[in-house]
Amino acid sequence: MFPIERPRRLRRTGALRQLVAETTLNPGDVVAPLFVAEGRDAPRDITSLPGHVQHTLESLSDEVRALHARGVGGILLFGVPATKDEVGSGAYDDQGIVQVALRRVRDEFGDELVIMADLCLDEYTSHGHCGVLRADGAVDNDATLDLYGRTAVAQARAGAAVVAPSGMMDGQVGAIREALDAEGYVDTVIMAYSAKYASALYGPFREAVGVEIAHGGDRRSYQQDYRNRREAWREARLDVDEGADIIMVKPAMTYLDILADLRREVDAPLCAYHVSGEYAMIKAAAERGWIDGDAVALEQLTALRRAGADFVLTYFAREIAEVLQA
Ligand code: PBG
Repeated sequence: MFPIERPRRLRRTGALRQLVAETTLNPGDVVAPLFVAEGRDAPRDITSLPGHVQHTLESLSDEVRALHARGVGGILLFGVPATKDEVGSGAYDDQGIVQVALRRVRDEFGDELVIMADLCLDEYTSHGHCGVLRADGAVDNDATLDLYGRTAVAQARAGAAVVAPSGMMDGQVGAIREALDAEGYVDTVIMAYSAKYASALYGPFREAVGVEIAHGGDRRSYQQDYRNRREAWREARLDVDEGADIIMVKPAMTYLDILADLRREVDAPLCAYHVSGEYAMIKAAAERGWIDGDAVALEQLTALRRAGADFVLTYFAREIAEVLQA
């Protein structure tokens, strides 16, 4: 018989497999998205994101403490305002819910873990779009940039170490960098949602923040078309040129090709956002006993690291940190 190659030799024992493993996943490689609601006296469950709630300021502190104790790398804050308006003013008001929450969390945790704020208007606009509207109902790119700049400054002033623009407006990173620098926030990091696709996987998130896009609208005039791959590279290159410190791909599992491309083509740190629908699918199947939820989560998050992500934003942050420590 011919001498066959035996790759299985290296898979014989757990110790050997550990020694030759190419990819690691640690609690410090995950960041937890968290929701904080204005004017509520008790946390409220989010049905389609089991295990997640709209936090009060108190329950938010408790959650951040629990995440920090487990070694989770950071948090990303989203606000749920009590009222909305046409121009999303809650996003850049110094008394807006995210600013209030940022001050509190930064006060308590300082730089012990990385405090990030999502930077967008959709949670705060009455029409649910990520920018302000022109008279004809289209999203006004350049008028929106001014408001993103104001939001970035308000978030930085309140204590965000990282601002994460997610609105997919052209020129947003440059406008935000300029606004931050003009106010002296030269050390505030910009993590750009660079390749953010118009995805059907954001449903549970929209329940979480109470966003409904007016008139059955969608975000396809600003978020990317999932048929496109080269376009992601272009978006990422523009963001880096405009001053992005970290770039992101979103959603995650159906975009591993994009992650691998950007890892190769761009030298900025790379993040993957394992989004609400991805979390919900695993939770729903696990609840029925059809899959082992922890095992699937571990496999998916590790695969994102393998494809090139330096860290992962995930609703599994707390659970996976527990699994990894067990
Ligand atoms: C927009 C924003 C969205 C998400 C993060 N930032 C929703 C959207 O683009 O409609 C989705 C996150 C998720 O689904 O987990 N501010």
